[in-house]
Amino acid sequence: MESESSKREMKQCKITIFVKNLSLRIRREANESYFHLTTTFILSLWMVLFVVILVFFFHYHKKKYIISKDSNYFSQLNAFQDSFPLSSNLLPFNISNRRSMQRCREAPKELWHSMSDKELFWQVSRVPDFHKCQYNRTPKVAFMFLTRGRLPLAPLWERFFKGYEGLYSIYLHTSPEFIHEPPESSVFYKRRIPSKPVEWGKNTMIDAERRLLANALLDVSNERFVLLSETCIPLFNFTTVYNYLVHSKYSFLSSFDDPRKTGRGRYNKRMWPIVSLSDWRKGSQWFEVHRKLALEIVSDETYYPIFKEHCRPPCYMDEHYLVTLVTKISPDMTSNSSITWVDWSRGGPHPTMFVRNDISEALFNRIKHGFNCIYNDRISSVCFLFARKFHPSTLEPLLRMAQDLLGF
Ligand SMILES: *[C@@H]1O[C@H](CO)[C@@H](O)[C@H](O)[C@H]1NC(C)=O
Ligand SMILES: *[C@@H]1O[C@H](CO)[C@@H](O)[C@H](O)[C@H]1NC(C)=O
Ligand SMILES: *[C@@H]1O[C@H](CO)[C@@H](O)[C@H](O)[C@H]1NC(C)=O
Repeated sequence: MESESSKREMKQCKITIFVKNLSLRIRREANESYFHLTTTFILSLWMVLFVVILVFFFHYHKKKYIISKDSNYFSQLNAFQDSFPLSSNLLPFNISNRRSMQRCREAPKELWHSMSDKELFWQVSRVPDFHKCQYNRTPKVAFMFLTRGRLPLAPLWERFFKGYEGLYSIYLHTSPEFIHEPPESSVFYKRRIPSKPVEWGKNTMIDAERRLLANALLDVSNERFVLLSETCIPLFNFTTVYNYLVHSKYSFLSSFDDPRKTGRGRYNKRMWPIVSLSDWRKGSQWFEVHRKLALEIVSDETYYPIFKEHCRPPCYMDEHYLVTLVTKISPDMTSNSSITWVDWSRGGPHPTMFVRNDISEALFNRIKHGFNCIYNDRISSVCFLFARKFHPSTLEPLLRMAQDLLGF
């Protein structure tokens, strides 16, 4: 009996030991697998971190590579003059300084390039403020001609510009199929910019104007920007025009709130709330702006798409977009009047086109001295520097009488 009970006890004892061992093993195994799990987790965490760091590293270097590739491309493309060599002992250590110095170099000698408008506008945004450039800049006036083909009044303009090299730059936007190049002696030689087709009154017209501005903005010396047509003529000699523009506190965009059908009537309610009816302005296409405003126009991404979508004939974008934009973003920068005279007195949808027999002293006295306006907050009798529309037949009498009528 005793042995049987002890046998049972032993059996029980064995079972308890076995159970104890088992639970110990299970616990140990659980501990081990916990350890495994933790290490695996930590390892994978490190790996993820490593990959993230790697990705950041590559991304940063890729960006740097693209930028440097791009600026190389740009300077090669435009063959910058080497007039501002980098001083080797100082500048290479300051990359931001070096980059802005590069941008401060003189204008591209070669106007032609293969940039798209988007690339062009982006390049413009990287041209530095001239105040940051470490050289004495003489401000220039950019004369931007928006034409279909040749400039019939070019000989008059040639005479106007003669002797003032370094104070002006010329840009021509023509029909893309117009490829005529004037002789090398001409001020218009190689001044065409890459152009695209323009439909009068449509957004392609604004595109052409922005393209002209952008190309002219690449030259850090250009301070004032005048848009002219092939029928425009200058009314004064170069020094008068230059001083008037360079010393003006304001830009010249004719701008008014026209309550009629041809003004407010062209406003589209769908432009609201970005453009409201009280912002809506009408004006002439032929503007003059200073550099700050030119930059704003080229970089506008808020108003342009709204106008492109909602201002279509009989809403003419060239009569509303720029003036409304300027009213929205910087109304105090413009005199609200045009610098280009035009004659609407004969009525009708188009202004007067002057022909050969119209050219007289009386006409020019009227245009040049018949008005009073505000210039730099003072009353002035010089209100217009340019006039339109002059037929090609006026070239001969204009050239003959330029000294008396125009002072050059
Ligand atoms: C580098 O040039 C920039 C711009 O001219 C300047 O603001 C900056 O202080 C310069 N950095 C050094 C380290 O000189
Ligand atoms: C330009 O015109 C102004 C005023 O008409 C005159 O005083 C000035 O002498 C002219 N300049 C030149 C270089 O002819
Ligand atoms: C031009 O008009 C705007 C309003 O459209 C006004 O704020 C601005 O002062 C005007 N500019 C001048 C010089 O009168």
